[in-house]
Amino acid sequence: MLVENNVALQPYNSFGIAARAQQLARVRSSADVATLLAAPEWAATPRFVLGGGSNLVLTGDIKALVLKVEIAGRRLVDETPRGWLVEAGAGENWHDFVAWTLAQGWPGLENLALIPGTVGASPVQNIGAYGVEWQDRFHSLDAVELDTGRAFTLDAAQCGFGYRDSVFKHERAGDSGFGLAGRALITHVRFWLPKPWKPVLGYLDLERKMAETGNNAPDAQTLFDWIVTIRRAKLPDPAVIGNAGSFFKNPTVTPEQCADIIARDPKVVHYPMADGSIKLAAGWLIDACGWKGKTVGHAGVYEKQALVLVNRGTAEHPCTGGEVMTLARAIQTSVYERFGIRLEPEPVVI
Ligand code: EPU
Repeated sequence: MLVENNVALQPYNSFGIAARAQQLARVRSSADVATLLAAPEWAATPRFVLGGGSNLVLTGDIKALVLKVEIAGRRLVDETPRGWLVEAGAGENWHDFVAWTLAQGWPGLENLALIPGTVGASPVQNIGAYGVEWQDRFHSLDAVELDTGRAFTLDAAQCGFGYRDSVFKHERAGDSGFGLAGRALITHVRFWLPKPWKPVLGYLDLERKMAETGNNAPDAQTLFDWIVTIRRAKLPDPAVIGNAGSFFKNPTVTPEQCADIIARDPKVVHYPMADGSIKLAAGWLIDACGWKGKTVGHAGVYEKQALVLVNRGTAEHPCTGGEVMTLARAIQTSVYERFGIRLEPEPVVI
């Protein structure tokens, strides 16, 4: 397999940040991973796994050997009276995969339409949107341990999914710990799409669509089309304006903390959670601090959704990861000063 030198990473991260990889290998099969791991010339080189680059802030060049995952393929593994089991290669584009499952007549992923990135990157942060979390449709995944070349399979419990979180985001804590950050390359992912299909509609934007169209029983394709329209209206298309989706996680607070904030800011957007905690809309908090539409250096806050930071660089003055992080820190400081809440970035920063 060819290892390329000094590769520009700007096309491979949705923020469009200019950075380079000293070496980059395109991984197109599980066998490619094995070949690379067995090659003595790369044995001592650290490795960095790059998926769709849609949840990534590059603050400099990558010195590690970049493994760009381009494993293709999608297939029906099994169909029973209870559902469809569908598999995709980690390098498949997420949105195209969702559209393909619907075209085959296997609904269930429609609420997750238009999320940028690849299938293999989606479990890392347990993507979620419009009432469906990725883990709700997950069955299992295959991966390779980068230290040993050992192939393994994980089910949902082993992936340790949480809100925008999984075992792939955590460092190993001690020898017995199970964190897999930087230690695994996901090769294939399987989804379980249950029968009979039921639409997931309990989300304000979708309720608005139902009222607008008078259609209270949308089929999966209609729901897919609605989600695409809703997302296009408020989220920037990375092909046009570089971004990494939501830049911060929605924070959770105790009911007491929430009551305190409501007393000062009655309009704060908040959602009670099943465990008794309260989730706040980070976009609202950032907006309330006056950040929407602001630009610092070549990084900015999207004018239609304050939770999304965007690339405002030009060909002559590209936006750097440092500028994005400077803006992110300024936002964190003002939200902390006003609300006493520390916002946690969602993308991986390297
Ligand atoms: N809001 C504002 N001002 C803003 C942005 C939001 O007042 O500038 C308010 C909205 O009016 C709304 C509330 O905040 O009442 C929540 O906004 P929205 O419905 O847009 O959802 P979100 O909580 O900001 C989350 C996910 C998105 C996902 C949407 C829809 C996170 C971090 N983000 O955003 O995921 O698409 O819900 O389900 O959980 C992503 O992770 O990249 C992403 C786009």
